[in-house]
Order: sequence, then structure tokens, then C-alpha cells
Amino acid sequence: MCGIVGFAFRQPFSAKEILTALKRLEYRGYDSFGYADNSGACIKRVGEIAVDAAPGSFSRTAIVHTRWATHGGITETNAHPHADCTGGIAIVHNGIISNYRELRGDMEAAGHVFRSQTDSETIAHFFEGKDVKKAMPEFFSRFQGEFAVLLIRKGDEKIYAFKRGSPLVLGIAQDGNMVASDIYAFSNKTNRAIFFNEDEFAEITWEGWKFYSIGEGAAPVEKEITPFSWKEGEELGEYPHYMIKEIKEIPQAAGRLLLSLQAEQKPAVEKIVQMMKNAGRVIFVASGSSYHAALIGVQFLARAGMEARAIVASEFRSFMILDESTLAIAVSQSGETMDVIEAMRGIKAKGVKIASLVNVPYSTVQRMSNAHLNIAAGQEICVAATKTFVNQVIAMAYMASMVGYKADFASLDGCIAKAFSQEERIKEIAAELKDRKDIYILGRGISYPVAREIALKLKEISYVHAEGMMAGELKHGTLALIEDGTPVICLMPKNDKDIVSSAEEVKARGARVIAFNGNGIEEGVKIGGADAVAFCIASTIAGQLLTYYIAREKGLPIDKPRNLAKSVTVK
Ligand code: F6R
Repeated sequence: MCGIVGFAFRQPFSAKEILTALKRLEYRGYDSFGYADNSGACIKRVGEIAVDAAPGSFSRTAIVHTRWATHGGITETNAHPHADCTGGIAIVHNGIISNYRELRGDMEAAGHVFRSQTDSETIAHFFEGKDVKKAMPEFFSRFQGEFAVLLIRKGDEKIYAFKRGSPLVLGIAQDGNMVASDIYAFSNKTNRAIFFNEDEFAEITWEGWKFYSIGEGAAPVEKEITPFSWKEGEELGEYPHYMIKEIKEIPQAAGRLLLSLQAEQKPAVEKIVQMMKNAGRVIFVASGSSYHAALIGVQFLARAGMEARAIVASEFRSFMILDESTLAIAVSQSGETMDVIEAMRGIKAKGVKIASLVNVPYSTVQRMSNAHLNIAAGQEICVAATKTFVNQVIAMAYMASMVGYKADFASLDGCIAKAFSQEERIKEIAAELKDRKDIYILGRGISYPVAREIALKLKEISYVHAEGMMAGELKHGTLALIEDGTPVICLMPKNDKDIVSSAEEVKARGARVIAFNGNGIEEGVKIGGADAVAFCIASTIAGQLLTYYIAREKGLPIDKPRNLAKSVTVK
């Protein structure tokens, strides 16, 4: 994953200033961070970005990095920037160099001395003693995998920026230029950007930039400046964590999306629906929570009589059946998930059209799509998807309603409010469940993906092993694990008799049943929701609140859970 930022400014800037920009990319990883400037100064630290880490450093050209470890443990030595043997070159890298073992072997045989266990260090050694610009074509032909790299040389006021696979964008400011993994790093300083295409590199100084395309023999290329607008994420305010703040923003975010689908995004939604009708079959491609939202979308479309499937992006290749009667819909909050981007590349190669649902505008997924909808949830900072998941479900329901699915959007507000009215009850349940090692969540039909989504939240935020499953599958094996006191959350949409039987079955074996709605069983949390969309959303909110309060009871780092990052930009 990782986030990278480079500044080239006319006036000297402090390390604190560039590290503050980097802090805005911390959702990409927070294992370690580092700073290097063209005087040769370099600092590296393990842990979250401390903007005051280099109090005395000022420069006009510097690069910084926040890491999500892939190759090599979380240590200062493995933190970026990495240098060549002479210390004359410093690089920061986002991505994975897949053939780094072979490259490192060759370089060590040629006398290079490596300090870290990372794949990235090979990049610094490759450029040692070379004319960086002239060596670029050889770099692109020898290095495999994904990379967005910033490189500086001691005493030189230039940043070399180059990329394949991983995102990279230039930001144009008044008296200088910035380059970063995404626009968010500098969206408080400029609203003008240039996006790098695949296999491009640039020379960046405070005065200007020059872009070159490897595909065109490293010849200079003209680039278009893209004006962008980005609503800044609000401050934490009165909330102790972003997770609870973002859950509480759901009513507002849902309302904003519904309005925009009926107004400014109307042409976009109509275009996608037409593409769906023309194709006749929809394949969603997504990861994690976005995949669960896609599973719900499949059921909405099926109820409208349209064939649809959802495929986990990282497994897409194994399941790929694509032809002209298919529309692929990529679903991604960040729009930067590498598994999704890889799948999209395969889909594009087959000539199949792609629509997308994204939250982060100008993201790679959005730019790769033939049509896109923005789920308009606003910036989400907590690693866990909460309000964005809800808005993905609403967007799916809305598109399905345009091909015949009957959704009662008018009941949404009431249901969401009802779920929030259960907060005190949910806190009590959280206190009761905080020491449990395993929790099961049962759903059927449309509530099955919700069960999986709640389980994912419990794992990533509350560090509880949780299994979200089809209630009907219980008796085919998992029932053996139910014993006295095992917590089982049953998602019970009104009028679903079968889920009541499943709840009775586990209860008979001593399970502690927590029913979301009662339907005859003692009610744990009152969800309401006669409508499927409303039930999905209300039970998701109840599950998110439960997860949050269990994590709080346990004193966990809720917004930045261990080992994770919000934007998963590696395969
Ligand atoms: C879980 C979560 C992840 C993401 C997944 C895909 O709370 O946030 O499972 O849903 O990494 O990310 P996007 O939607 O950005 O492609």
C-alpha cells in the first residue's frame, strides 16, 4: 500500500509541512514513515507519522513515505526512504517489485551493499552512478510488478517521478509543484492536477515539469491539467473516533446520495442502467465490504429479473466469463484497490464495458471506467467502511429500482433512526460480548451478505473471530460448534419464518441468541424494516455500532486496526 509525497518549492519548506501532507495519506498505511531531502538529511521512524519528527529540517526539495509493510518487517531500517550505496540517491516507493530477488542477487554480485530486507531498495541501487533520465527505459524493462516512485539526488533540486500500476499525481501550486499517491495529499493547497498514465515518468522542479512516455521511446508527452474539487473531511469534533462519527453521518450521507441520484447524477445513473439493459447481464467486481455490498446488489437485480453475479476481485481471473452480453461493475470506496484494478485490466482487455461505483473522485477505478457513479458518502477516514457501505447498498438498490426492483426509499429514514434508537441496548450487548472469542451471525437471502459484513467488522475492528453465514447452512456442519452460551446474532427480517427456525435450532443447543428483530424470539435489538433495503441498512448500522462498542470496551485502536490500511494498493 503506502503513501508517497514529494515537494519542490521555490521557498524552503519545513519537514513538518511535507509530513503534514503525508499525514493526509496515512490511511494508506501506518507501520512506519520517513523523510529525505536533497541536502542528504534522512529520518525514519516506526509507527504513525509524527509531524514533528524532524524539527530542524528545511529544504526546497524533499520526499516522504508512509509504509504498509509487504517485504521486510516493521523496522526503522526497512522504513523508506531507501538510499543507494553512496547515499547520493534517495527513493520512496509504493507498490511491489515482483522480481526483486533476482535483481538484488545481480546487484549484490556486482558489489552493491543492501541495508534493508525490502524489495524497494533495489530501485535506489539500480540508479546508482547513472544518468537517471537516460536509465529510465532500462528501469521500466528490468523492473517487474507495480511501482510509483519518487527519486531525489543529493544537491539536485529535481524530483524524478515514475509509475507503473500504482497511482501517482502531480499537484500544481503557486510557487512550486507537489507529487503524491493521490490528490488528497495536496487538495488543501491546489485544485489543479496532472494524472500520470501507465509507464510514464516526469522531471519535477519548483518551476515546472516535463513528462515522458516509455511506450513512446521515452519521448516527451503533453499532459492535460485536470481541475478538481474535493470537499475536505471534517474534523473529529466531539467524537472520540472517526468510526462513530462516520456511522453517525449515515443519515446525512444517505440523503445526499439519494438527492444526487435524482439530480446531478441522474444522467450518469441513466447511462449505467442503459448499459445494464443493453448487456443483459451484470458482473460486479469488488473486495471486502464493497464485495458484500455487491452481493446485496446481485439480489436486488435478481428480484428485478436481471442476471447478476458478484466476484471477489482477487479471484476474478478464476471465474472470468466475459462476452458482449456482460456489463462489469467495479465497486470500490477508494477506487485504488489493486485487486479491483487488476481485474478491470483483464475485463478491458476482453473489450467488455465497465461501469463503477466509487467514493473517492478522480480515483484510478473511476478513470478506468466507461461510466461511473459517485456514492457521495464524503470522506471516510476510519479504516472500516461504514457510511460508504451503506451508500453502496443504496446506489445498488436505486439502479435496480430503475430496472423494476421495488424498493421503499421513503421508509429509509425511519429505519435508520430506529437502528440508532437502539444504541444504549447495543452498548449493553457489547459489554456482555466483549470477552467472547467467537461470534456467529446468521442471515438468509438478502440479509446473508449483511451477516458477512457484520462478521468482517467484528474481525477487523473488535478483533473477535466472527462468521457470517447462511442460516440454512448451519445444520450442514457449523452447528457442531454451538455450545452453551455461544453468541449467535440472528438477522430476522419481518415475515421470514425460516430464520426463526434457525434461531430456535441454535437456541435449543444453548446458544445466546441476539435477534435483530424478534419475530417471536426474544428481541435483542429492534430493527424494524418491512422493506428489504431498509432492513439491510438498519441491521448493518446495528452491527457497526455493536462492533464499535465491543472495540471500545476492549480499548482497541478503532480507527487504525493493526495490520490494515484503508486503501489496499497491492495484490
Ligand atoms: C472493511 C473494508 C475493506 C474494504 C476493501 C475494499 O471495513 O473497508 O474490506 O472494503 O479493502 O476497499 P475498496 O472499497 O476501497 O475497494
